[in-house]
Amino acid sequence: MLLTGTMKINQKGHLEIGGCDVVDLASQYGTPLNIMDESLIRTRCRYYLQSMEKHYPDFEVIYAGKAFLTKAMCRLLEEEGMSLDVVSGGELYTALAAEFPPERIYFHGNNKTVSEIEQALEAGISRFIVDSFSELDLLDSTAQKIGKKAEIYIRIKPGVVPDTHQYIQTGQVDSKFGFGLSDGQAMEAVEKCLEKKHISLRGLHCHIGSQIFQTEPFVQAALIMMSFLREIALTKNIQLLELNLGGGLGIRYLENDQPPSIDSLISSLAEAVKSKASEYNYPLPKLMIEPGRSIVGEAGTSLYTVGTIKDVPGIRRYVSVDGGMSDNLRPALYKAKYEALVANKAEEPREELVSIAGKACESGDMLIWDVHLPSLQRGDLLAILSTGAYTYSMANNYNRIPRPAVVFVRGGNSDLVVKRESYEDLVMNDMIPKRMKKIRDELAQKAVNP
Ligand code: LLP
Repeated sequence: MLLTGTMKINQKGHLEIGGCDVVDLASQYGTPLNIMDESLIRTRCRYYLQSMEKHYPDFEVIYAGKAFLTKAMCRLLEEEGMSLDVVSGGELYTALAAEFPPERIYFHGNNKTVSEIEQALEAGISRFIVDSFSELDLLDSTAQKIGKKAEIYIRIKPGVVPDTHQYIQTGQVDSKFGFGLSDGQAMEAVEKCLEKKHISLRGLHCHIGSQIFQTEPFVQAALIMMSFLREIALTKNIQLLELNLGGGLGIRYLENDQPPSIDSLISSLAEAVKSKASEYNYPLPKLMIEPGRSIVGEAGTSLYTVGTIKDVPGIRRYVSVDGGMSDNLRPALYKAKYEALVANKAEEPREELVSIAGKACESGDMLIWDVHLPSLQRGDLLAILSTGAYTYSMANNYNRIPRPAVVFVRGGNSDLVVKRESYEDLVMNDMIPKRMKKIRDELAQKAVNP
């Protein structure tokens, strides 16, 4: 069974996370519920920081907020000494609302708006990661207007294609992200930066994709980036001293998944950068990485209540739960696979083959096809494992299903970090135009007074 972090099966035969019986969590907070193992998140942050410390002199570990971001998460990151990558005004706002230090914020995105740029400049964030020529112009003019200089990295497509789902590859030439190396756009971007008065080019960035299980493509990208740093030094006579190699380390979703360890990724990256720096006689750049999934993914568990169970004779048993693609879009979007267990029957033999359906009106809303579980009844609690990354952050209100609550569990305590959305929340921003109200009133009037 895939039990990570502080997960265990307790004496009652229930799943326990962070010292909390998951069955009790369900009665206290309701379902669907996202349970985050706070100790495991902290442990993962520390692995990254300690591993960097061991292998490289000057570094920053920048958590990719898109994986999971709430105000409590920002607070945790600050406490652990992590920096933060944001990709939108909303993520930036969340960080600032949690009083996360702006000088540790990095701003990504392929289409930053003027107001997002202004918001970030005014907050005094650390670096913008610039994605296009058009953004360079916009950033330069906005910085001039505000009277500040924007410190930036340019995002490079190193042309490395890792073995992962096509939707989460990003470093290939035909990608909406970054500047190509082979087509000369990356060097042109460097030249443009040097001409701009309100931009200061501080380094380079790349990110090749996500849920990657080999260290080689990361190393390959690091070598390419080092060689580009040297080319810039030789042709433009400037040494850029910051190198951000992005995120992307895979995690265990299924029992047989074997991702490389954090330490093996960091040691191979550090080795690659150090060896090239010495070969090129280039000063060691400050090294940055941006893990998201490998910090929070395995720390998350989605808890659902079983509802309708339907047999299609001779074909399969559909077990429906009270959530689905509204709180975890990944199976529908990427055919992502997960493991599950029954939290209130964690030790019972897995003798039934079932498929887990979400409750949305969509045939594709299937959370797991074909999984062996103990015999299920309405009211049982189904736990889907390793759901900490890109689930809550991608949650939506399809079918007007409210988004779930999120709790942090640790040392036998649970704390609500995001309240469950209510039906009132769902209609909070809805408006009925006055004229519609009037038509209804007129009809009512006519009915009374024909
Ligand atoms: N840095 C940049 C620039 C990124 O674009 C990403 C992820 C990361 C860092 C973090 O990558 P990670 O360590 O989490 O793999 N929704 C998809 C994943 C999209 C990843 C987008 N970029 C999924 O659910 O698999």
